[in-house]
Parts: sequence; structure tokens; C-alpha cells
Amino acid sequence: MSKRDVLMEVENVSVTFGSGATAVEAVKNCSLTLHEGEPIGIVGESGSGKSTLARVMAGLQPPSAGQIRFRGDNVFKGNKSFQSGNRNQVQMVFQDPYGSLNPQLNGLSAVAEAVRIHSKVGKDEAEQKALELLERMGIGKLDALKKPRQLSGGQRQRVSVARALSASPTVLLADEPTSAIDQSAQAQLLKLFLGLLNDGLSIVLVSHDLGVIRYLTKRVYVMKDGVFVESGDTETVFNDPQEDYTKMLLASIPGELGKAARAKLKR
Ligand SMILES: Nc1ncnc2c1ncn2[C@@H]1O[C@H](COP(=O)(O)OP(=O)(O)O)[C@@H](O)[C@H]1O
Ligand SMILES: [Mg+2]
Repeated sequence: MSKRDVLMEVENVSVTFGSGATAVEAVKNCSLTLHEGEPIGIVGESGSGKSTLARVMAGLQPPSAGQIRFRGDNVFKGNKSFQSGNRNQVQMVFQDPYGSLNPQLNGLSAVAEAVRIHSKVGKDEAEQKALELLERMGIGKLDALKKPRQLSGGQRQRVSVARALSASPTVLLADEPTSAIDQSAQAQLLKLFLGLLNDGLSIVLVSHDLGVIRYLTKRVYVMKDGVFVESGDTETVFNDPQEDYTKMLLASIPGELGKAARAKLKR
């Protein structure tokens, strides 16, 4: 196996909200590495700091301390992020696509608009590209002409992924992308993510659900109260969790997958 190049490095990153007695340390001294084409996971309970770290990695929020590098360059210079050619390289998809999709725009227009933001092409060419991206996400022309409220949750989420892909990113950062959609829609989305990985995209998958993380990722970081308490090869963490917290997350996986972990916890 050839050694993959390091794409992103998070080094001793902390994020504090507020100050003094009411300060919240959402992320505490976290470090991680993402390689080219690699799928990694960040898992933890609600409030553990996952979204905050994801936002920092996407360049949406500066860290209070520490550094984020993309291909060796600091992502933040002061409060500004992703200078020069790297601006579009990391794209984020959120849990609730309602929040990121304009309710007035159908999928085709939403994605075509994004295509035109990222490349100087005419309207027709942008629509053609948008149709291709939507098709790749399993959205045919008929559904592409529907507004967000006329689509299912899974379809909406796939439109928002198509929108993110319009920037031709190197990294897709997906924050709880499967949390608001039903099981079959989850499976479909994760399958599409596997396809994107095959095409060379790197994926950072943020979830509270270790089952989802196991399906897609090769390495995982387990986050608790802003700290990475455990990390490693996903299968190893899954089969031989070291921390009680990780065992608890495993036990909370619905259905058969979490059954063995639940039985162990009861003993
Ligand atoms: N903008 C903010 N201002 C103040 N506190 C925040 C802000 N965003 C998140 N927090 C706090 O930071 C902690 C981590 O939140 P978050 O990163 O959203 O966790 P997760 O995504 O794992 O649920 C929580 O205690 C949350 O209340
Ligand atoms: Mg979150």
C-alpha cells in the first residue's frame, strides 16, 4: 500500500466560546490528520464539540488556539481563512439541508447557482453541470425541478451534497448528514459517499452514530467534552473499545449492530 499524502492537519486546536466564568471550552487541544482520499470519522454525543471542530476545519470559524493546515498551508491567517486557491477545497454539508437550501429554488437552480459561483460558465453550461452532479447523487431531471419542500429528506440532503460538489472540493465535511433522514435514505446517502471516495474525494464524517461511522470510515476519533478520548482504526475501535464512553456509544447504535455492545454493558 502506498503511503498517502497528508491533506489536512489539525494541531492542538482549542475553541472557547465566551469568557470568564461563563466560558465554554467546546474543543480542547484536539489534533488529527486527514490523508488524501481518506474517510475519517469524528464521533461523540451531542454537545461533545464535533460541529465546532468541523466548522473550524471548514474554515468557517477560527480556533482560539492551535492550527489547521491544508496541504501544509495555514488555513487561518488571523480571522481570514483559505486564502489563494484553497478557498473551495473543503466543502461542508450540514444535518439539516433546509437550513442551507433556498426554499424558493428548485434543486437544479440551487446547484446551477453554486456551479456559477465556483466557475465562470454560462447559464446553460451551469445547468448541464448541475444536472450531472444531481444525477450522480441519484436525483433525476424530474426531481431536480422540485423545490426543497417537495422533496424527501434524503433527496434534499443529496441536493445539498450536489451543491457542495459543485465547488470540486478535495474534502467533503459532512456534519450529521444522516441524522435527519430515515434508514433507507441513510443507506443510500452512505453508498453515494462510498462512490465519491472511489473517485478520490476525502471525507470527514461527523456523527453521534458509530454504526454510520463504521460503514464509511477507516479511522475514527472519539470525542467527549471537547477532547479526543480514543482514536484509531475504525474496526479496532469498534471491536475492542478501550474507553467506557466508546462502549456506551457502541451500545447506543440501534438494532443488531449495537446489540452485542448493549449485552456487554449489562454485565
Ligand atoms: N456559538 C456558540 N456559542 C456558545 N457556545 C457554543 C456555540 N456553539 C457551540 N457551543 C457549545 O459548545 C459545545 C459543543 O457544541 P457542538 O460543537 O455543537 O457539539 P456537537 O456538534 O458535538 O453536538 C456545547 O456545549 C455547545 O453548547
Ligand atoms: Mg453537532
